Amino acid sequence: MASDRGRAAARPEPTHDPEVVTPPGQPGGLRRLLAEPTLPRWAARLGIFLARRGRVPFRIGRRVVVARHEHVCEMLARDLDFGIEAVNAETIGEVNGGAFVLGMDRSERLAEERRALYAALAAVDLEALEEALQAEVAERLAAVPAGGEVEVVNGLSRPLAARTARRLFGLPKPPEPLFTDAIRSIFYHTFLNQGRDPAVRARAVKAGGYMRAWITDEIAARRASGEPGEDMLGALLRQGLADDDLARRTIGGMLVGSIDTTASSVAKIVAMIGRDRALAESVARDAGNLARMRGWCAEALRMWPHNPILFRHARATTAIGGRDVAKGETVIAWTQAAMFDASVFPEPGRMRPDRDAAAYLHFGGGLHPCAGRPVNAFQIPVLVGALAARGIAGVGRMEWAGPFPDRLTVKLSRGA
Ligand code: HEM
Repeated sequence: MASDRGRAAARPEPTHDPEVVTPPGQPGGLRRLLAEPTLPRWAARLGIFLARRGRVPFRIGRRVVVARHEHVCEMLARDLDFGIEAVNAETIGEVNGGAFVLGMDRSERLAEERRALYAALAAVDLEALEEALQAEVAERLAAVPAGGEVEVVNGLSRPLAARTARRLFGLPKPPEPLFTDAIRSIFYHTFLNQGRDPAVRARAVKAGGYMRAWITDEIAARRASGEPGEDMLGALLRQGLADDDLARRTIGGMLVGSIDTTASSVAKIVAMIGRDRALAESVARDAGNLARMRGWCAEALRMWPHNPILFRHARATTAIGGRDVAKGETVIAWTQAAMFDASVFPEPGRMRPDRDAAAYLHFGGGLHPCAGRPVNAFQIPVLVGALAARGIAGVGRMEWAGPFPDRLTVKLSRGA
């Protein structure tokens, strides 16, 4: 601990760095089309209609798009044919200072690193995280009177998801707002910078330097104190791994996917609920029931998903659903269209909170399903449920920071 304090004194950390802030404003290019729910949803419905009629997946130049639910599941399951390494490894490496499971194809190394990740996640007391979140949500909303307004991104879901992440991973020290700014910039470049915008990359590379230093310093402090800790980092350090680099890369990789995914999903779910009075009333009746809330959240997210597509890269010349795919081509799983496939989602236009949870594709599937599922299972319904319990009486216009929802004001009809 003493050496950690000494280092902090010699090299004071900034608490804010404008060079890692994602600027406000609507997303550019094709991403602008995703900044509202209606057009992408109707495109998805048309897409699944055509995919079921035409039977084979679409081809657009060197890209193949699979839309039927069975084809999306097949594509995600056939990881030897449709790999992820060519999609994610480069950008993950640029910011994480090494590989992470989400950028690795099936291999001995992936199996080893995946096992380390899931064993560490299983060792954490998630009930304690849920209780802490419940208390924090209640405290924040207690300050809002009946008829008052709350801003649900930076005023609620983003800072609280960041706190869950700090507790889960074991990173109490990184300063705000630098912490959340850095993680957002890294997510942007790693998963959403398809056009390789150099400004997005530059922000992420700088932010990656901060993130690596935070985790390395935390590991050094724990090694020095001899107390590994009860969080995910502690669980990784107790595993007796060959070196600490795997622990650092695993914490970094997971951290990046944990904050803005949650905040963006909550904003989109609340926006969908807030524009339909009858729906808001149905959801409010289930506000105290976590399982029903999970169903409502999955449904609202189907209408306006966090990510409507997933990318893979053909590792060999092959075929899917009767469509030939050449080695090296990009294959896109249109997960939103698949979640309107009536063969799996009967009456797909209706919001029904009692659908089979296993049918949703929000969290991917196959070899790389979202590792945050046990956290998402409580965090998203707790955040949305707390708002629903207070009566979502209306929502304002969504404001953006590039591809991320950044501001959404919600009016609450009831008092605490
Ligand atoms: C609503 C919130 C979230 C959404 C919508 C989401 C979505 C996803 C999706 C779609 C994938 C698969 C990507 C692909 O196949 O290309 C994924 C993977 C992953 N997610 Fe999440 N995620 C969320 C929250 C979280 C949280 C809270 C964490 C960590 C606590 C997390 C950690 C991960 C990790 C580590 C992977 C990679 C798993 C692997 O490669 O085996 N995610 N997520």
